[in-house]
Amino acid sequence: MRINHRASLLSSPLISLLVLSGFVNAIDGWKFTITEATIDDIQRAFTTNELTSRQLVDLYLGQIASLNPLLRGVLEVNPDARDQADQADHERKAAANQGRRGLGELHGIPVLLKDSIATEDALNTTCGSYALLGSKVPRDSGVVERLRRAGAVILGKATLAEWYGVRSTKIPEGWCARGGQGVNPYVESRGPCGSSSGSAISVAANMVSVSLGTETYGSIICPGDHNSVVGLKPTVGLTSRAGVIPISPRQDSIGPICRTVTDAVYLLDAIVGFDPRDYEATKAAAKFIPAGGYRQFLNQDGLKGKRLGVVRNPFSDSYNGSTAILAFEHHLNVLRQRGATILDNLEIADIDIIMDPSRSGVIIALLAEFKLSINDYLEELINSTVKSLSDIIAFNLNNSVLEMMKEYGQNGFLTSEMTTGIGEEEIKAIKKMEYLSKYGFEKLMKDNNLDAMVTLGSGASIVLAIGGYPAITVPAGYESDGMPFGILFGGLKGTEPKLIEIAYAFEQATMVRRPPRSLL
Ligand SMILES: *[C@@H]1O[C@H](CO)[C@@H](O)[C@H](O)[C@H]1NC(C)=O
Ligand SMILES: *[C@@H]1O[C@H](CO)[C@@H](O)[C@H](O)[C@H]1NC(C)=O
Ligand SMILES: *[C@@H]1O[C@H](CO)[C@@H](O)[C@H](O)[C@H]1NC(C)=O
Ligand SMILES: *[C@@H]1O[C@H](CO)[C@@H](O)[C@H](O)[C@H]1NC(C)=O
Repeated sequence: MRINHRASLLSSPLISLLVLSGFVNAIDGWKFTITEATIDDIQRAFTTNELTSRQLVDLYLGQIASLNPLLRGVLEVNPDARDQADQADHERKAAANQGRRGLGELHGIPVLLKDSIATEDALNTTCGSYALLGSKVPRDSGVVERLRRAGAVILGKATLAEWYGVRSTKIPEGWCARGGQGVNPYVESRGPCGSSSGSAISVAANMVSVSLGTETYGSIICPGDHNSVVGLKPTVGLTSRAGVIPISPRQDSIGPICRTVTDAVYLLDAIVGFDPRDYEATKAAAKFIPAGGYRQFLNQDGLKGKRLGVVRNPFSDSYNGSTAILAFEHHLNVLRQRGATILDNLEIADIDIIMDPSRSGVIIALLAEFKLSINDYLEELINSTVKSLSDIIAFNLNNSVLEMMKEYGQNGFLTSEMTTGIGEEEIKAIKKMEYLSKYGFEKLMKDNNLDAMVTLGSGASIVLAIGGYPAITVPAGYESDGMPFGILFGGLKGTEPKLIEIAYAFEQATMVRRPPRSLL
């Protein structure tokens, strides 16, 4: 009877969503459900033999098959994911038989990668563009090498804003030619933000356990904020950029996008560290990595004694009239109650210049840096039809329908192609950003002896991006139309331990995140 019941219900799309979203487990009497499953939940289910990695991968593949045609967060599924899961299950069984424990938190856990993070396998690495489809990368990226060593299952690649939006100022957030328009699973009309849109959409909609994104100028923090998930952008150099499609070695950072702070920290622990292929930056940042990793800072009392500086101008302005303002006040009280000292209404010097990309110097620097670094990246590709930025420009002209050139053009690429390396203009622009950071954010932090800056929404990610500073966004509420917003904590270089303590204690005190209602 139950089977008949389910078979008839399955003809309804809503019910098939319920079934595929893990509800079927409850029907079948399992305790485990993939909806909002954390890495700890999954590892517990592995240990008690309630779940195998293979079953978990199949559940997510079902969820992707059902939801992704709507949401377009996943660009490619790895045809080897099931085999990798079987391998993980085999290793876990062998370890248990030998009485060994502790294969690590990521062992057997499915991870989705932004489509700019290279994998040397059946998956393509294309930044969402047809120009790189079918090309072969020389090797795994540095972060993927580490994920594989940790036993993670590479589930697939996530959609993104094509070429991070560098191609054109008209590229919509979350759109790429290969994947189409990524959709915010909470409020379709409000957009997912970019450029790590697919990574955030996919974890928000429970299509995967955890994901990686990349950020140059807000691209982890903004989609995290807009899709009600945790985004952690590490200090530049803490994670290797080797084998990741670049914009700027000065600003690029690879980081986790997950449903919880704990999951983000497990993923961070797996990917940080020195990489000879990203020598200078990872060597300089390696001194920040604490012995024993970052999980020791998942501390319920992490707010005790912290000094937090609240900057409202101009980040709260975009929420004028929204319920988010009230929620933010409430959260500041929570931070106080949990033992933090709040210094309110602080100001960052020259914030109007910092927030204006045409005045801060960031556009001038990024366009020149992009040409240099993308040409280096493409040079290494095997069997690629494009070997340089000028080839990509030609490819787009040759394939203008596929790449929607009439609609979006490639003004960013054309301007970047006209640059001639880091000359006088670019050095001036980079010096200006260093000055703005030193006498803006750093001065704010040091003058007030702060552990972190606190802001509403994701706007302040720009301040942190141009200086290479770390940031973490945690779900903080939903506006009256259901649109998520986050709270952002930012700190000086290498202060991830403090940011994790603050973000985790905040998350545990508030537990704001809900899965998208339309999908439940
Ligand atoms: C990678 O792209 C090729 C087309 O060049 C396609 O045949 C293949 O299926 C893609 N790989 C995956 C895993 O989707
Ligand atoms: C917020 O909105 C009110 C009116 O709705 C307006 O008077 C005020 O100037 C706005 N503040 C900002 C910072 O935009
Ligand atoms: C590159 O392409 C050629 C011709 O299509 C093929 O024979 C060769 O195996 C390819 N090399 C790699 C590394 O894929
Ligand atoms: C673009 O088309 C021209 C003319 O057919 C061809 O010579 C060139 O190789 C193509 N370039 C790319 C990158 O597709």
